Amino acid sequence: MNTKERTRIVHLSDPHLSSLDGVMARRFLGGKRFLGALSWRRRSQHHLRATLDCLTNHVEKKEPDVIVVTGDLVQIGLASEIDQAAQWLDSLSKIAKVVLVPGNHDFYQADSVASACQSWAQYLWPDGNKRNTFPSVIRVGNTTIIGLSSAQPEPFWSARGMVDEGQLNELEKILQDSTGSMRCVLIHHPPIEGRCAGRKALRNSKALQGVLDRGRAEFVLHGHVHRNTEYCINDYTKVFSTASASNALRHASSSFRIFDVVRDQSDWRMVSTLEVVHDSRCGEIMTSEIVWKDTALR
Ligand SMILES: [Fe+2]
Repeated sequence: MNTKERTRIVHLSDPHLSSLDGVMARRFLGGKRFLGALSWRRRSQHHLRATLDCLTNHVEKKEPDVIVVTGDLVQIGLASEIDQAAQWLDSLSKIAKVVLVPGNHDFYQADSVASACQSWAQYLWPDGNKRNTFPSVIRVGNTTIIGLSSAQPEPFWSARGMVDEGQLNELEKILQDSTGSMRCVLIHHPPIEGRCAGRKALRNSKALQGVLDRGRAEFVLHGHVHRNTEYCINDYTKVFSTASASNALRHASSSFRIFDVVRDQSDWRMVSTLEVVHDSRCGEIMTSEIVWKDTALR
């Protein structure tokens, strides 16, 4: 294999793309969806389909090898919303391979989980894993992409998440078995404590962090917080969150990230670029290079 071969990953998140036009909130009177639909009415003008389409056009020009999407495609997990999102995923897949993990809005209720797992199966399990369980694993170029599900139906006031024990055990094995490649872990919720309000946090972040520490995962991509952030879990594992792909508000404008991964002798090198879309124009606002030294020795 050419050791200088580059793999280009694009990360986008939380498009919240489905419309609730024509959906009567009172249809769900007394249920979680009633409150969710009312809440969404207030926020819907912040998330615009035109903004998302503009971002998608810019992503296409970057010619990625893979597009990873860290959840929250819909609002209240209705089958009609999940169908709309499936059409968007199909259009995205014309640009590059798509790998998706679910968000709390996608797995809103038990019926949402069933609909999403059926309609989005080829993106949730792009390796054709017929077991339809997480983690999903797929190798793209020099990178192993591992998808976790942290989403589960919760009461209205909670947007918390959980990565169950089966996934943690499997993740540990995958990280052990993939040491010759770059490892990119996808999850909707932030993987460590303190990155969002308690009512939105991952319940077992300490257990997940332990697995990521031991397995020396190179980087983690997440959504959920609708902000662009970069931080470290330890002296090895980097974490990036990307703002909502459809957000028209200036303080957290529609964004995507590009990661260019190259193997250089025994080191891994990754150039990360944050792209922000304003008024249909795309601007590069931050580029950085990360080097993982002597990874052949791990
Ligand atoms: Fe979320």
